[in-house]
Amino acid sequence: MTDGIAVEQMTEEQARTELLRLSRALARADRAYHGQDAPEISDATYDALKRRNAEIEARFPTIKRPDSPSDRVGAAPGETFAKVRHAVRMLSLSNAFTSEEVAEFDDQIRKFLNFGSEHIDYTAEPKIDGLSLSLRYEHGSLVQAATRGDGEEGENVTANARTIADIPQTLTNAPDILEVRGEVYMSHADFAALNTAQAKKGDKSFANPRNAAAGSLRQLDATITAARPLRFFAYSWGALSDPLAATQYEAVARLSALGFQTNPLTKLCKGIDALLDHYRMIELQRATLGYDIDGVVYKVNDLGLQSRLGFRSTTPRWAIAHKFPAELAWTRLEKIEIQVGRTGALSPVARLTPVTVGGVVVSNATLHNEDYIAGRDSKGALIRQGRDIREGDWVQVYRAGDVIPKIADIDPDRRIASEPYVFPEKCPVCGSDAIREEGDSVRRCTGGLICAAQGMERLKHFVSRGAFDIEGLGAKQIEAFWSDPILPVKTPADIFTLAARDAANPLQKLKNRDGYGEVSANKMFAAIDQRRTIPLARLIFALGIRHVGESTANLLARHYGTWEAFESAMTAATTGKGAAWEDLMTIDGVGAVLAASLVTAFHHPTERAAIDALVEQLNVQPADRPVGNSPVAGKTVVFTGTLERMTRAEAKARAESLGAKVAGSVSAKTDFLVAGPGAGSKATKAAALGVTVLDEDEWLTMTAVP
Ligand code: IVH
Repeated sequence: MTDGIAVEQMTEEQARTELLRLSRALARADRAYHGQDAPEISDATYDALKRRNAEIEARFPTIKRPDSPSDRVGAAPGETFAKVRHAVRMLSLSNAFTSEEVAEFDDQIRKFLNFGSEHIDYTAEPKIDGLSLSLRYEHGSLVQAATRGDGEEGENVTANARTIADIPQTLTNAPDILEVRGEVYMSHADFAALNTAQAKKGDKSFANPRNAAAGSLRQLDATITAARPLRFFAYSWGALSDPLAATQYEAVARLSALGFQTNPLTKLCKGIDALLDHYRMIELQRATLGYDIDGVVYKVNDLGLQSRLGFRSTTPRWAIAHKFPAELAWTRLEKIEIQVGRTGALSPVARLTPVTVGGVVVSNATLHNEDYIAGRDSKGALIRQGRDIREGDWVQVYRAGDVIPKIADIDPDRRIASEPYVFPEKCPVCGSDAIREEGDSVRRCTGGLICAAQGMERLKHFVSRGAFDIEGLGAKQIEAFWSDPILPVKTPADIFTLAARDAANPLQKLKNRDGYGEVSANKMFAAIDQRRTIPLARLIFALGIRHVGESTANLLARHYGTWEAFESAMTAATTGKGAAWEDLMTIDGVGAVLAASLVTAFHHPTERAAIDALVEQLNVQPADRPVGNSPVAGKTVVFTGTLERMTRAEAKARAESLGAKVAGSVSAKTDFLVAGPGAGSKATKAAALGVTVLDEDEWLTMTAVP
């Protein structure tokens, strides 16, 4: 027993045991208090336990538990949630909207695995319209709950999750480490009752059950979450010390046996016809389920096949969400406005008379580009039977998933405008010519960084989620700083000189301005400072270079390793020729258009000056060294000839998952050439360069997963 020992006399071992005991006792008390509304211990005892816990933590700070009661309900709520890095990334799903797209999904899987005509077994289950949550159990105790966030880092909502009745606090017969993933949602009935109660209290009501669930889970004061009727369906897992089962279906059954709610409409389906049958069955039941779903998720059943199929950058190859058709609504298009994006693209946006579509009020829709407005697609084929879109038209809007609403059609009988819409040929922001290059569907402002819209949009991109993601400095603040007379921010480097400029400035300090105070200004400066250390991939993505998205930025970071190597390669490269260009082009996933865009950016004097000034403010972390200790980690591999034991796609995916770089052509940097029968010029070149050549069997042995 450790509960009688005075804190100052405890050994570290005793302290550890006592912290565990206190954590359990307090968690139990919290549950009784919030969950069942039936306290088991007096407030005074509760406070004494909490104090003892805090005293032990103060004496032994290094052994504070990740689920410490100090961070739970009852503790003063912090201002934000702590960040949690997911042990296994939380991914999203790619979507299918038609049966043809489902057939394509199945086809791609078969091709990847080189499957014959045999059916693939899948599971099919409703796609719950809530928010995903990852629950970490260690030795049967819930120690952490985290939201998805950007997939790599989420928010620590452990205290909140502990108040959800569907989430077990302890598990028996579970793997030592088990991360259970699933969806937090609210039922229709609970949502309606919550909104009635909110209205009675004069509080704001929620637009739909999903927003209500998200708003309820992300409460800094977990006692509020406790009072909200949240539920949880488990459907997947992250880190595991032992496998749950050999198939998806059995793994979900195991989660159910462990005490989780799993969806009763989960079904094992042989082949895609069975999937589509189940989809129709679920669609018929959708209105009476009592909670929102927005599609059906299909997953390859065999977990061995799942692992062979692996992942693309943000989605698994072995699963897809078959979405229900989007809801439609008619409204008036009041005005067409042109927005100028960070690459100068002029994007037309429809300003609509607000209308509710699928539970959400919609007042804007994308109009894509001038061809789309005129009634043609990018290849010149007619859309909406060639009907153009004009200001004042009645339009039918739809929302598909979380994306910006779109326009399905117009009503020609209710048209008022007599002339078609004329797309501007000058940038509406800076007045520069807006031109359309041959083969491009987009008209672009030629003003570059002299265009306020481009400059501002680039900065917004710079601080966005996958980029620098600076807390307290979002799109709204960027807009304000852009035209600020005292502390202007026109380039990314200006963000990092804000604090110094504010300190040196004899005029009004930021802390004395509307919307700021000492705490919030200092917090923002601290958040900026924190981001001076930045991973290479994030920096490359943040630069906002055309065609360089998050996954390309990752490829580039892994290829070059350090900022210095990347920067000197870009400086040395000339479009279309030379060693640096050739090297850039060997990266699988980098094509000529993207490479040219990078080279142009690094050779443009103003852009280059802005990049250099920024990097001077930063400490750029080298790219993560490839994972694991596989002999191919960090090596560059080229495949040639026919592979007989796995498809080229699978071989490539496997190599990448082991940390290898896969290149399309042989160069002096190639470490291995994997040559199947029929290998030609690549094998000759490899031999000439002294590159190690492996046959398929040797390659498989080398990359065998232990
Ligand atoms: S599986 C690696 N199953 O949909 C795949 N996701 O668009 C992990 N979702 O982030 C997801 N119901 O929040 C899966 N039955 C279900 C789901 C489901 C809802 C959500 C989940 C995910 C999002 C992807």
